[in-house]
Amino acid sequence: MKRKHFIYSIGATTLGALSIPAALSAAHSDDQSNAHSNKPPKGKVKPEYIVPQGISNAPHNEAFWGAVATNFNRPEGFINLENGYFSHQPQGTLHHHIDAQTTINTQTSHFMRTAQTQAIEEARKSFAGFQGLLTEEVAFTRNTTESLNIVIMGTRWQSGDEVVIGNQDYGSMVEAFEQAAARWGIIIKIADVPKDPRSDAEIVNAYCDLITPFTKMLHLTHMINLSGQLIPVQAITRKAKQIQPNIVVVVDAAHSLAHTPTDMSDLANAGVDVIGGSLHKWLCNPIGVGFLYMKKSLIPSIWPLMGDTGADKNDIRKFEHQGTRPINSLQTIAKAIEFHRMLGSSAKFNRLTYLKLLWIGNKQALENFGKGLGILNDPQYQANMAAVTELTMLDAFKLQSPLFQFQRGGAIATAYVNGYTPTTLAKALMDNHKIFTVGIDHPIIKGVRVTPHLSSSAADCIALNKAFTKICIDLIPAPKLK
Ligand SMILES: Cc1ncc(COP(=O)(O)O)c(C=O)c1O
Repeated sequence: MKRKHFIYSIGATTLGALSIPAALSAAHSDDQSNAHSNKPPKGKVKPEYIVPQGISNAPHNEAFWGAVATNFNRPEGFINLENGYFSHQPQGTLHHHIDAQTTINTQTSHFMRTAQTQAIEEARKSFAGFQGLLTEEVAFTRNTTESLNIVIMGTRWQSGDEVVIGNQDYGSMVEAFEQAAARWGIIIKIADVPKDPRSDAEIVNAYCDLITPFTKMLHLTHMINLSGQLIPVQAITRKAKQIQPNIVVVVDAAHSLAHTPTDMSDLANAGVDVIGGSLHKWLCNPIGVGFLYMKKSLIPSIWPLMGDTGADKNDIRKFEHQGTRPINSLQTIAKAIEFHRMLGSSAKFNRLTYLKLLWIGNKQALENFGKGLGILNDPQYQANMAAVTELTMLDAFKLQSPLFQFQRGGAIATAYVNGYTPTTLAKALMDNHKIFTVGIDHPIIKGVRVTPHLSSSAADCIALNKAFTKICIDLIPAPKLK
């Protein structure tokens, strides 16, 4: 048997049993080249993460990504292709979380009174370093919703101040601006973001044409959750600042953090002033941790959501006044980053993009993608391409997401089928094909949203492609017999 090599990341503590398939756990590495200990652990210590080494991490290589998928528990009885809500954690992270919780549960307030602050600061250092940000510009919140509410509710608005938002922004942020409008009389202008733009300029102009001397804030959703479209935040920010240098650019990075290869520092360096994101999405950290990046010079002018007169008004920590909270979810951040780094941002993004393209089945898109990565002629790539139907050729199938420009999306795509509502389509996929997706019924985007994950396989996406094919073909009336 050809030996495969695996990176093992070994925890200092004994971890619970990990379910490593026998074939994989037997294939222990003797490769000494990686920084992590890659010797199979002796005694009771178990490997935390399983990431093959010495084989290609090309997006279509199921030997690599299938092994990565074993880090996650998969549900029984259905295929989960709705991983946009939050991410399940790899077992190594999950066990670390449970261990940290056990420690806090044992030490109780002694931990909170003596070790909590250091744990938070260590997490801040890990996360800021990971994203190339300064620790003094990063606060932890519970999620993106809280991060962005801090800035929307904490801004010193004057009646008549204008904000520019997008027509596909996340509902909670739209509602936060609507509440600010009702409370302080701000004026909301809504950019019409094209669903399938031909150029960056189209999107840049959609936002920047609405900026006036009264525009105080520009709110951009980096990856639109409805369709998976990534918008060119850096280009929009640069142009917006040229028009109105004092504009505060706020980015919702809920879906782009650790999904795309873009670091949050890339956005900050382009002039973005505030970013909010959730670590429980694509970083695969346990639920309940968000981050807020805020440019140092802006911090003193924003009120915290929770009263904190004791904090220095220049200190980003003033936004962290949450009361008692699960510190073990912050203690896992370094582990979540470790897993992400073992995979690599670009390799992860390519895998997720590949899974999306596979279920959609568009041959031209798959060819362009395969050619770009030099894998088009690989037999496994060809075999999977041959296994899927080109859904975009079927009359009833309507894709709602950009397809050809790979920089405009990653895992997420949405599609509808004529004759179905988003809910009935999601129900048909679940009831008849045991595939879980989510119906999206938004004024601009309607359909089922499909979000594969690292725990998904090519076979899952081929199964979805077949399910869509059947649903569409069943709609074609049988020819009348003469
Ligand atoms: C674009 C976008 N922004 C914000 C959020 C809210 O994230 P959270 O629930 O973690 O606050 C989501 C959640 O899916 C989202 O998709």
